[in-house]
Amino acid sequence: HEIKNPLGGIRGAAQLLEKALSSPDEKEFTQLIIEQSDRLRNLVDRLLGPNSLPRLEWCNLHRPLEKIRSLMKADTSQAIAISRDYDPSIPDIKVDPDMLQQAVLNIVRNAVQALRDSKTPNPHIRLVTRIERQLTIHGQRHSLAAQIKVIDNGPGIPADIRDTLFYPLVTSKETGSGLGLSIAQTLINHHDGKIEVDSRPGHTEFIISLPIDRKES
Ligand SMILES: Nc1ncnc2c1ncn2[C@@H]1O[C@H](COP(=O)(O)OP(=O)(O)OP(=O)(O)O)[C@@H](O)[C@H]1O
Ligand SMILES: [Mg+2]
Repeated sequence: HEIKNPLGGIRGAAQLLEKALSSPDEKEFTQLIIEQSDRLRNLVDRLLGPNSLPRLEWCNLHRPLEKIRSLMKADTSQAIAISRDYDPSIPDIKVDPDMLQQAVLNIVRNAVQALRDSKTPNPHIRLVTRIERQLTIHGQRHSLAAQIKVIDNGPGIPADIRDTLFYPLVTSKETGSGLGLSIAQTLINHHDGKIEVDSRPGHTEFIISLPIDRKES
């Protein structure tokens, strides 16, 4: 509110000013103020992140993953190979499927962009699921966890942003807002999970771990 209220004031004042102006040339400037205020408000909304609580339901992890695969196949017109390697024995887990899908999608989109921007030959993204035993997440030991890995053969994460990768507004892209990963992390935190990354040239791997034994822990 410390940002949004003054922004609303600026926008309102520009609107009033616009009414007092007669020449279209001058109105262009008030329009600019209004547009940019809207952009900023949008950014603040995204920075604040998802503000709804997860709506948990029992879900097969592969359902949102398959959705992403078909979305991406349509999107990349098959230029980038997206393969899957699922462990079918992973039990259903309690998640908000929309939130999970958004988190993974943000990671997959980054992989697509990295592969495209670097013009990597034979671009390839792999979606992998596994069960992990005895995993510590946020200081809690879990006897069972599900892992989703998104692996690409792109250039790797630029060294200068590796340490701050998940912070908001960290980006290496000219038009990037640097929010994709910070939002993904917030969403996964809502599920008591974690995201890790392992990256070198030719191999970047994001690993989402979600506890399966949430109740006992
Ligand atoms: N698979 C990847 N390969 C190489 N670099 C990556 C990969 N994933 C993320 N990055 C780097 O991490 C940065 C931050 O990613 P993030 O999704 O948070 O922001 P963004 O993609 O730049 O912008 P936005 O997602 O808001 O459009 C990216 O700009 C990119 O430099
Ligand atoms: Mg992104």
